[in-house]
Amino acid sequence: MAGLKFTGFGAAAGEVTVTNDGMKQYVDTNDAWIRRKTGIHQRHFAVKQTNCDLAVRACETALKNAKTDASEIDALIVCTATPDRTTPSVANEAAARLGMGERVLTMDLNGACSGFIYGCITANALLASHTCRKVLIAGSERLSQVINMKDRTTCILFGDGAGAAVAEYSEDGLFQSLSGLIYNDQALYCSRFNPALSMQGQEVYHFAVSKVPEATEAILKESNLTTDDIDWFVFHQANERIIDSAAHKLGLKKEKCFKNIAEYGNTSAASIALALGEMQEQNLLKPGQKIVCVGFGAGLTYGAMVTEL
Ligand code: UT7
Repeated sequence: MAGLKFTGFGAAAGEVTVTNDGMKQYVDTNDAWIRRKTGIHQRHFAVKQTNCDLAVRACETALKNAKTDASEIDALIVCTATPDRTTPSVANEAAARLGMGERVLTMDLNGACSGFIYGCITANALLASHTCRKVLIAGSERLSQVINMKDRTTCILFGDGAGAAVAEYSEDGLFQSLSGLIYNDQALYCSRFNPALSMQGQEVYHFAVSKVPEATEAILKESNLTTDDIDWFVFHQANERIIDSAAHKLGLKKEKCFKNIAEYGNTSAASIALALGEMQEQNLLKPGQKIVCVGFGAGLTYGAMVTEL
């Protein structure tokens, strides 16, 4: 087998921590409701930091953990639905700030909450075709810029953060992926104008609780693996109940499902990368471990990948 192999991860969060009680300054809500319905205890907002600031911090840590100099990176993909501006991209600015060479390929990729999976699929293609030797994939979001702070059903869900991963091509690497789209432009919609984000919560919830286990089963089947072969399941951190429901349907051991939604809320394209960064920080990731990641979100889209560290 051959494919993308991750060599290092990084994570960053917005500088202001807002607890559930802190959300009462915006809407009529309470800590008990938010915990019971979502598993979220707090979120981080980037008040002064830009999306690019978050992405750069996560990338710096990923490069350090991968023992890789920024100049060795051939492509930087920043997965985001909340760029600081339309152009130049977050990836353009981040590459310059990180000190990447002039020949670097940079792009922002908008796959909403499936973004990081889309980014890894793109990175794998760039690596497998030998277009690039090393690719840096970041998921970075400043959702506080687009959430409607008067809508209590959505504003309590989201947070700002970033995660990043350095990837290389390995002849003994394992990388299998899939993606899907069931078009629905109203279930999770974000306009260019304020207030921007609206969501049909139960529509997305039902989509997620069926698609996350379905995509996991499909990716395992395509890889000739079973759930027992997998060390970690990292699902998009949108709602703890969605993660637990998927784990239950798949018969997974709870300790194999990484969760950090309590601390960060839903950080969209950042969430899986941020989780991987935190797992590395906590020394949970070991060479040879196999990981399944599944993202889902606006579109409605989903994407899954299995890889070996
Ligand atoms: O990455 C993007 C993916 N997005 C998702 O995965 C979101 C998926 N959806 C969900 O996680 C859930 O639909 C929510 C957590 C967003 C909402 O849970 P729900 O069980 O669908 O609740 P609901 O919207 O039906 O609201 C139930 C009740 C309502 O009151 P009534 O009408 O029953 O009296 C709401 O007004 O809860 C009320 N409510 C709140 N109460 C306190 C809604 N938001 C709040 C709040 N605090 N923040």
